[in-house]
Amino acid sequence: MKNFEVNAVGPYMLARKLTPLIKVSQRKLIVAISSTAGSIEGADASYGGFPAYRASKAALNIITRTYGDHVKKDGIISVMFFPGVVKTDLGGPDAPLETADSVVSMIKTISTLNAENNGCFIDYEGKTVPW
Ligand SMILES: NC(=O)c1ccc[n+]([C@@H]2O[C@H](COP(=O)([O-])OP(=O)(O)OC[C@H]3O[C@@H](n4cnc5c(N)ncnc54)[C@H](OP(=O)(O)O)[C@@H]3O)[C@@H](O)[C@H]2O)c1
Repeated sequence: MKNFEVNAVGPYMLARKLTPLIKVSQRKLIVAISSTAGSIEGADASYGGFPAYRASKAALNIITRTYGDHVKKDGIISVMFFPGVVKTDLGGPDAPLETADSVVSMIKTISTLNAENNGCFIDYEGKTVPW
């Protein structure tokens, strides 16, 4: 339940609260930080474990996708976004990506998002992630 609250319900409530401000922003974006861990199509036995985390990210994806459909009429672009496997507390010291490299790529990709990306699940380099 904690995973769902923090990873899925929290971002949804935040997006709803911020929508009036997003509507009047120059760049109207909702970027949900998701994970390939929540990809059902990409799930295989080698990933292993973490059912609560993974289910919460799948929930985040469908919540964001659904809310994105709702606010599309206001010109808001919503995406589900995988930051890569990064050396953070979560990713651990053996993760392949440095935090700075992930963040630089994320900013670059997010800054080029357009209407074609609406409702898509993409990674830090802009590549499509399977649902
Ligand atoms: N690192 C990866 O490889 C990776 C891969 C895929 C997706 N992601 C996603 O990227 C995002 C950031 O993760 P990270 O790698 O930076 O993880 P992290 O280093 O473990 O940081 C997690 C952050 O979440 C905050 N947090 C934890 N529980 C919270 C709660 N109950 N309420 C509010 N904030 C809470 C923590 O705050 P405190 O510092 O105050 O504890 C911390 O700032 C997450 O959504 C994660 O799922 C990361």
